[in-house]
Amino acid sequence: MTTRQAVNEVAPESSAPMRLRVDAPLLDGYLSYLESDATPFITPGHKGRASKLDADLGAVVAGDVPLYGGVDTVKSARGLLAEAERRSARWYGADWCRYSTGGSTHCNQALCLAIGQPGDKVVVTRSLHRSLLLGMVLADLEPCWLPTAIDAATGMPLGVAVEDVEATLAANPDARAVLITEPDYLGTLSDVRRIIEVAHRRDVPVIVDQAWGAHFGHHPELPPHAMALGADAMVTSIHKLLPGYTQASLVCARTRRFDRDRLERGFEASHTTSSAGSVLASIDACRALMEARGPELVEPVLRAIKAARQRLREEVPGLDVPDEQSFMPGRFDPMRLVLLLSRVGANGIEIEHMLMDQGLPLELVDRDTIVAIVTIADDEGTLNELVKALVPAIHATSGPSRSPSVSVSWHVQPVKAMSPRAAFFSAHESVAADLAVGRISAELIAPYPPGIPVLAPGELVTERLLADLRAVAAHGVRVAYAADPTLSTIEVVRI
Ligand SMILES: Cc1ncc(COP(=O)(O)O)c(C=O)c1O
Repeated sequence: MTTRQAVNEVAPESSAPMRLRVDAPLLDGYLSYLESDATPFITPGHKGRASKLDADLGAVVAGDVPLYGGVDTVKSARGLLAEAERRSARWYGADWCRYSTGGSTHCNQALCLAIGQPGDKVVVTRSLHRSLLLGMVLADLEPCWLPTAIDAATGMPLGVAVEDVEATLAANPDARAVLITEPDYLGTLSDVRRIIEVAHRRDVPVIVDQAWGAHFGHHPELPPHAMALGADAMVTSIHKLLPGYTQASLVCARTRRFDRDRLERGFEASHTTSSAGSVLASIDACRALMEARGPELVEPVLRAIKAARQRLREEVPGLDVPDEQSFMPGRFDPMRLVLLLSRVGANGIEIEHMLMDQGLPLELVDRDTIVAIVTIADDEGTLNELVKALVPAIHATSGPSRSPSVSVSWHVQPVKAMSPRAAFFSAHESVAADLAVGRISAELIAPYPPGIPVLAPGELVTERLLADLRAVAAHGVRVAYAADPTLSTIEVVRI
């Protein structure tokens, strides 16, 4: 009996996980390679035998199989990647789809390279991830910024206002695309459908960075994915909200408003030539898993999150735990567990340390906010464990109530002095931060998470911005990408 026959005959029993490889060409190629006894004379250099050299090294590279010469042949004779990508394109209603081992960072850059000509304008949310901003530097796109709307009651971001998109497009009729980030780190979304309608009335394509929404569309209570709402292109991190390998991402597009060849060239220009077959196979496997069992897998997790929220509210009176009822329909991801700590006067950073000591690392934490990433790999048990640790930690750090604050990442008001690309490539110098006020930044500085550039190349350093960044750092948040992470000095454009 061949392996394939054996796999086909594994009946999906209720207690045993279903075998996916029959519907997942890359996964099948990957598993077939592992089952084979090849003696490769190709890269990677570990050749699947590193454990003979050192057990620890062997453990690290175990499971690493290249796409070319592993999952498929060196000459890609079986066309497995293209076949898998076609299946994802079909799921998203797209006519172009590529799998990336470079994360949504790479996918965002690839799309930027496909938009237009150097110097072209794009209408883009200022609450963008740094990867999108640096994609714009690579492609020399000129941003027309959209401000982030803020929920007055909670200080949470609410995406971008449709009216702002409409007005910015009207003021910049030559803009080549609208780029939005949906959902944001806190799980809130713009009115994506209406934004797309507004842009399409002018025949302008809409690109959605949906890095945090790979699970969208897989359950009736989850928001639809961006392509279902009419987006022209979408990026998503399979490794964030689905059970894929770290760095696994995909990008897809409808090519009515995009040049397919440019998409392809932009993607290839910025991708590795040595893709990890294991990472790509995990994208294929996630697609097959969610197509086969998405709603069934999401349902119990949604129930468990609801119960966790309820317990948190009961056991920590006054704690803000937003859910989908807190926002307009379709404007919040119910899978996101967000705690707003201001009202109970608790300290997120201290809570994070307490939970870390118990083996419970959290995704995004600042003094006032905690975001726990919950996926279909969680269940009632993991959520109970989290709540059990959170409740005493919140009580232990509670103090006088504070009014809800808006994180600096959501209220950036950039003062643009130069194009991001010109500033990125300009001669620069390091000056004392206080003396940098009024100068043009040559660098990108972003509290991480969420990785939104609070200061971008080409923008003026202002007193307010410096004070905000220093406050964030003082609260224990990592200020990433700054040449001087202590913020004593800032890299500015030389005059
Ligand atoms: C909105 C957004 N887009 C893109 C990215 C980059 O994703 P990746 O880590 O998959 O490269 C991130 C990462 O956090 C993000 O938050």
